[in-house]
Amino acid sequence: MTVSRPDKHDPVTLGELSRAVHAGNTVDEGSGAIRTPIVLANSYALPDDPSTISWSGTDVPLYTRNSGTNQLALQSKLALLEGAEDAVALASGVAALHAVFFTFLKAGDHVVVTDQGYEAIYKLFTDLLPVKFGIEATFVDTSDLDAVRAALRPTTVLVHTESIANPTTRVADIRALADLAHGVGALLTVDGTFAPPPLLRPLDHGADLVVHSLTKYINGHGDAMGGSVAGSRELIQRIKNEAMVDAGGVISPFNAWLINRGSVTLPLRIRQHVATAQVLAEFLDADSRVAFVAYPGLPSHPQHDLAGTLLPLGAGGMMAFAVEGDADTQNRFVSNLKLITSAVSLGHDESLIVHVGTSGPRVARYPEVFRTYGHLRFSVGLEDADDLIADLSAALDATFG
Ligand SMILES: Cc1ncc(COP(=O)(O)O)c(C=O)c1O
Repeated sequence: MTVSRPDKHDPVTLGELSRAVHAGNTVDEGSGAIRTPIVLANSYALPDDPSTISWSGTDVPLYTRNSGTNQLALQSKLALLEGAEDAVALASGVAALHAVFFTFLKAGDHVVVTDQGYEAIYKLFTDLLPVKFGIEATFVDTSDLDAVRAALRPTTVLVHTESIANPTTRVADIRALADLAHGVGALLTVDGTFAPPPLLRPLDHGADLVVHSLTKYINGHGDAMGGSVAGSRELIQRIKNEAMVDAGGVISPFNAWLINRGSVTLPLRIRQHVATAQVLAEFLDADSRVAFVAYPGLPSHPQHDLAGTLLPLGAGGMMAFAVEGDADTQNRFVSNLKLITSAVSLGHDESLIVHVGTSGPRVARYPEVFRTYGHLRFSVGLEDADDLIADLSAALDATFG
């Protein structure tokens, strides 16, 4: 079959919306299909003389643990969205975080880690990596630059933070953290899950690596798990070699295809998420039955000014809040919601809420209101703001009578 195909643009020259549509997609040579098909094969045809090729190569499709059609397509798109030289796609966000730490840390190394961040980080740097591999971690609130400075040591090889912290929504001053980390020769790694591009590109602000749970905003539809790391070609190649080819946390072709498809609308979805989240945060903040709202778009947020400069498109789609009352009251409020779903995960098309209590070692490091009330982690979805306000309002009335 002969098909005439328009010349493809170089996505690097395109704007944000166009990149999200066209990057990571090519006309399929075999079928002429204009969207990259799902290729589930584990193995790809070898050249006539395979004896000289590298069996651990990751650049051309060879074996799906090294590189497959859909994984390569997704990686090229993620690199472009992040403004990175290269990216690697892995099985989950946690696999991506682990891949970074597994690749760049060794026994005796010291790391500085955010104490406001995602649960798995806390477990990795308390229970697992120190005990199994002799890695030493100091937990600090990375929005406190003096605390970070004081925690750094000559043996610090990595500083890890979240751009907007899960769940406290603390905002990281990435440029300042990069300067501090680089001052002792350490890498700055940033988990950008709460603020994906186009909201924020941590590499533009001096970070060395940016990690995402693709499961969240980048896929955006709540139907596939994945993770990624983006950065310089040299650092990403090390992760591909050590954590993907040799440790095996690879993404499946089907999930890579789904995430590539979901990410087509990422810039559009993000604009809607942040616009609605701002409206909802202001609505909740104005209600006396709401005990607190943590959202960087509110003037009461400790990094409101920083958020304004770092995140010019908006302060993200995630917030934490609590209603006045004890844990039973929080639960009653959640059970009175009809449109907003009680479930973990975030960044989906539908709004999700989860009641997180006041117990556990991590909570002890959170701001006082989180320790007093627990919190409801709220991922604002793509529903109409009016419908979401009506749901929150009705649930408040039903809870407080
Ligand atoms: C900030 C952050 N990083 C990483 C992860 C882990 O991602 P995954 O669930 O895809 O492993 C999560 C999950 O909630 C997260 O919120």
